Amino acid sequence: MDLWQDVAPTIDFSLAIDLPRFSQGLADSARILDMGCGYGRITEQLQRAGYRNLYGVDASAAMISRGREEFPQLQLLHSDDPLAQFPADHFDAILACAVLTCIPCQQERSTLIRQLWQWLKPGGCLYLAEFCHANGVRFMSGFGIDMWHSRPAELRALLTGFSIEEDEIRTEKTLSGQSALSCHLFARKQASFYP
Ligand SMILES: C[S@@+](CC[C@H](N)C(=O)[O-])C[C@H]1O[C@@H](n2cnc3c(N)ncnc32)[C@H](O)[C@@H]1O
Repeated sequence: MDLWQDVAPTIDFSLAIDLPRFSQGLADSARILDMGCGYGRITEQLQRAGYRNLYGVDASAAMISRGREEFPQLQLLHSDDPLAQFPADHFDAILACAVLTCIPCQQERSTLIRQLWQWLKPGGCLYLAEFCHANGVRFMSGFGIDMWHSRPAELRALLTGFSIEEDEIRTEKTLSGQSALSCHLFARKQASFYP
């Protein structure tokens, strides 16, 4: 079932990424995955910044369908597409913006991070940009999707097999216009075995 089907055609996501930090040391030719790309707004931002080896993957067929209409030049793939089953050690960098926020189950969040670890090259960069909350909260969003804003420490604890290079907390606006904290975590894949 596609949780995003009803809202995908019209929703506009707002969480901003730190593009200058993400781009540090990342060549234009780097192979980059925008995981949980939604309709591709960040994939497209990366393309405008000069990156040309980009993939966006999302679990929602409705999001991918909108993205392909708005940005036909991008490679946006549904998670079930065989082309979205990447080999190990494939990407120079992976980013996930406001994706863990939409996965209330801790086990599923860990599974996703492990998958991203496998797809990253050793030494590759993982950038997580996520809404967060000092005490952690789970709630039903105004558009009917079960959401989770973690404690920053919970996000850090997910990063088994990575070394965290930077971890910044900012204040942002959520889709409903309320103030919320966001956590921007930059981590690097360590060694080539998963602890
Ligand atoms: C809040 S939206 C953010 C979209 C995009 N990253 C952005 O910031 O514009 C979260 C997206 O994550 C996707 N998503 C959630 N869990 C996922 C998973 N396990 N694999 C791939 N996509 C996932 C959802 O389908 C949704 O499109």
